[in-house]
Amino acid sequence: MHFTHFLPTAALLALAAARNQEVSVGKNGLTFEPNNIVASPGDTLTFKFYPRAHSVVQSDFQNACQPIENGFNSNIIPVPEGVGDTVFVLQVNDTRPIWIYCSQAKHCQAGMVAVVNQAPGPNSLEAYAAAAKNVPAAGVPTVVQGGVLEAASAAPTPGATPGVSNAAAAETAAYGFAGVAALAASLWGF
Ligand SMILES: *[C@@H]1O[C@H](CO)[C@@H](O)[C@H](O)[C@H]1NC(C)=O
Repeated sequence: MHFTHFLPTAALLALAAARNQEVSVGKNGLTFEPNNIVASPGDTLTFKFYPRAHSVVQSDFQNACQPIENGFNSNIIPVPEGVGDTVFVLQVNDTRPIWIYCSQAKHCQAGMVAVVNQAPGPNSLEAYAAAAKNVPAAGVPTVVQGGVLEAASAAPTPGATPGVSNAAAAETAAYGFAGVAALAASLWGF
């Protein structure tokens, strides 16, 4: 048993339940796909950008198409063709609803909105989109914050454990969770 496996194994155990999900931004028109996302605390969302220019901005239910103070913002990412080289990686920290819009032009008004962990009741994605239609101008924040812009090649792969390198994630995949747990147990002398 290699001692060098100890640290990544411990890190993987702590995050074993966390997952990454990919969200396509503008792939098929003015859409986030998926747009009604369920994620657990610790999960990450990796937003992939498509032509020609879109953003991922945090809003709240009451103020459609407007940024919230200190909310996340990717800025508008230009993509000439294909899928962009840059992704925006966002960590989900709790189970409260997270409202998202694209700040470019009238994309939000056209329905380019999404929710993470929509709650039952009147605050639905449909209601948010309906309110968005009537907003004169979307708010366009200019400071990237609350998430990380990174090279698509460095981003977590779907389903992979976030917060660790792709190599470590590959190790998890190779061992499987049971294998990792058994390895840790043997290292820790359980
Ligand atoms: C989760 O917490 C991190 C670190 O404080 C922050 O950057 C990120 O924006 C938060 N995620 C959401 C969805 O607010």
